Amino acid sequence: MTFKRFRDRRVTEEIRAQHRESKLHQSDFILPLFIVEGSNIKAEISSMPNVFHYSIDRLLPDLQELVDLGLKSVLLFGVPKTKGVEQSFSATGLVQQATALIKNLLPQLEVITDVCLCSYTHDGHCHIGRNHNENSHINDNDETCEILAQIALSHAKAGADIVAPSDMMDGRVHYINKALTENGLRNTKILSYAAKYASNYYGPFRDAADCAPQALDSKPADRKSYQMDYANTDEAIAEVNADIEEGADQIMIKPALSYLDIIYRTKQHCLQHNSNIPIVAYNVSGEYKMLLHSVNSGWANEDIIHESLLSIKRAGADRIVSYFTPYLLQKYFKS
Ligand code: PBG
Ligand code: ZN
Repeated sequence: MTFKRFRDRRVTEEIRAQHRESKLHQSDFILPLFIVEGSNIKAEISSMPNVFHYSIDRLLPDLQELVDLGLKSVLLFGVPKTKGVEQSFSATGLVQQATALIKNLLPQLEVITDVCLCSYTHDGHCHIGRNHNENSHINDNDETCEILAQIALSHAKAGADIVAPSDMMDGRVHYINKALTENGLRNTKILSYAAKYASNYYGPFRDAADCAPQALDSKPADRKSYQMDYANTDEAIAEVNADIEEGADQIMIKPALSYLDIIYRTKQHCLQHNSNIPIVAYNVSGEYKMLLHSVNSGWANEDIIHESLLSIKRAGADRIVSYFTPYLLQKYFKS
């Protein structure tokens, strides 16, 4: 009886490293940043340890430090003090100002901007319109897309490398693509949240971005009428196809850890259709907090963080949005 000796490849860390099939790299990571009004603010977000609200004047020193550690990319969220949709596409809005500043002083750092309304609307929803009748998903949808295109355009004008619509309205990639193209700003790429699920893992973020959705009329306080049902997989592929057809340059899957099957299937699907389109996965706030809790409570070894993030890469993600980015840069990639 002969058999294969797999343990040969596991004898020492050096040998294991030679057989390793997937690895995390510095350049895999995208750090989300929350920009607030005011000056001299760097305030830890109560729902998210080690994640901060920054006023624009406090952003650069910390970013410089992270760039020195190997940070390649950031994802900007604007969190205004008072609500109002107009600020979202104002040339002097938080995201627009922060983008211009970063591209001016740290031009090599990639700036991705969140394109959504939920931090700007009074009801915390990602679309406009308080009229939640049966047709609202058609009327509000298309009017929201017009505004999203204006937001994307204002971010592109400020110098954003990539705009990332996270709202889950139908057709928004089409509207954004059209607006950027017509204005000669199609150098700015579109990273579309193609498959974003109505997930219970977003709680801490909603505090950070002040965007918890309110209950409207007879509907509960959730985003289930626009984000995807977490039971669905085929629909994710249909969403991905639609966004690629509309002009998306990169695809986001969100959340990541409970959705590794979606990441895997999306990557395989794109490869089978000869598309090397980058797949980005969002390791969301609830996943961050769950892992932090398990480490801080002593239940798990700290390496559970690396293992979890590697699983996202192994499943097929090309890049990962994560609040663990500073930690990983410090711990694993410091030269
Ligand atoms: C809103 C938005 C959310 C996240 C990113 N953009 C929350 C939501 O959809 O309610 C979640 C990110 C996270 O949890 O880290 N457009
Ligand atoms: Zn939103």
